[in-house]
Amino acid sequence: MTLKILQFGTTGQLATELLRQAPDHEVALTALGRADADLADPAACARKVMEARPDLVVIAAAYTAVDLAETEQALARAVNAGSPGAIAQAADAVAAAVVNISTDYVFDGAGGAPYAEDAATNPLNTYGATKLEGEAAVAAANARSLNIRTSWVVSPHGKNFVKTMLRVAAAGNPLKVVDDQSGRPTSAADLAGFILSQAPRLAAAKAGDPAFGVVHFANAGEVTWRDFAVEIFRQALGDQAPEVGGQKTADYKTPATRPLRATMDLGKLQQVYGVTPRPWQDALAEIVAALKA
Ligand SMILES: NC(=O)c1ccc[n+]([C@@H]2O[C@H](COP(=O)([O-])OP(=O)(O)OC[C@H]3O[C@@H](n4cnc5c(N)ncnc54)[C@H](OP(=O)(O)O)[C@@H]3O)[C@@H](O)[C@H]2O)c1
Repeated sequence: MTLKILQFGTTGQLATELLRQAPDHEVALTALGRADADLADPAACARKVMEARPDLVVIAAAYTAVDLAETEQALARAVNAGSPGAIAQAADAVAAAVVNISTDYVFDGAGGAPYAEDAATNPLNTYGATKLEGEAAVAAANARSLNIRTSWVVSPHGKNFVKTMLRVAAAGNPLKVVDDQSGRPTSAADLAGFILSQAPRLAAAKAGDPAFGVVHFANAGEVTWRDFAVEIFRQALGDQAPEVGGQKTADYKTPATRPLRATMDLGKLQQVYGVTPRPWQDALAEIVAALKA
């Protein structure tokens, strides 16, 4: 029987990739955008789950404006924690499993990276704190839930670092990029592929199955934002690649504090799901090709 997936989000990077790839899988995917289900309204989102009675719910939308979250704390909390909790509870009521997406920003990045799934969390900003609350709310409401922590998500769609760097370079201005924060870039396409390929297992698995809980998903490798920019320009612009200067986080003031090295360990991904993510450079090449096409 075709698996029924209810997805929250239609326009974001991950949501776009899930919608693009769903036809390649044995799933019937219904996606709700902001106009159908506003994540600022947990009760309304829960009702959508009760009405749809899916096999699996995927929460692919979130409040992702990391700096703005410092001034819109209540909204960020409702979207990133209130609604995921309510959605997971409704999913439990209709015997649906749930996938929620979280972030490496649950870690303070002050030491101990690469962090395993059970490493101590200590978010430095409101976005990370609300995502961590969302993880807890989802896990408490539904024993058949998976919180996937990801990092530095990039794709040919929406807003992301790859597109920002290419836009800034096209404007011809001198470039300085933070060189003391490092992490793992993640292709939204690879994350979407992982979710869709695991969907049958998650929809069928019973509470207590190792597929549920928390898992880290990112592309393999680790890089600073500056060196990520250098590789983006090397791949996209070749000989025309601009010079990229370095900058310290301490000299680049933003409303939200960011972890210096929240790099996640990817061992569980291999052990529990048998998945070895490809290097971030390979994923980037696909994105650059799509942007050029
Ligand atoms: N981007 C990253 O680098 C990154 C890193 C770590 C974890 N994550 C997590 O990965 C997941 C996917 O991120 P992404 O990069 O695909 O996000 P994204 O491209 O920033 O898109 C966010 C999506 O959330 C939707 N949204 C925001 N507020 C909403 C609301 N009140 N009601 C309904 N929809 C709302 C937006 O809809 P509109 O188009 O209507 O605004 C948009 O579709 C999120 O859980 C995010 O926290 C992302």
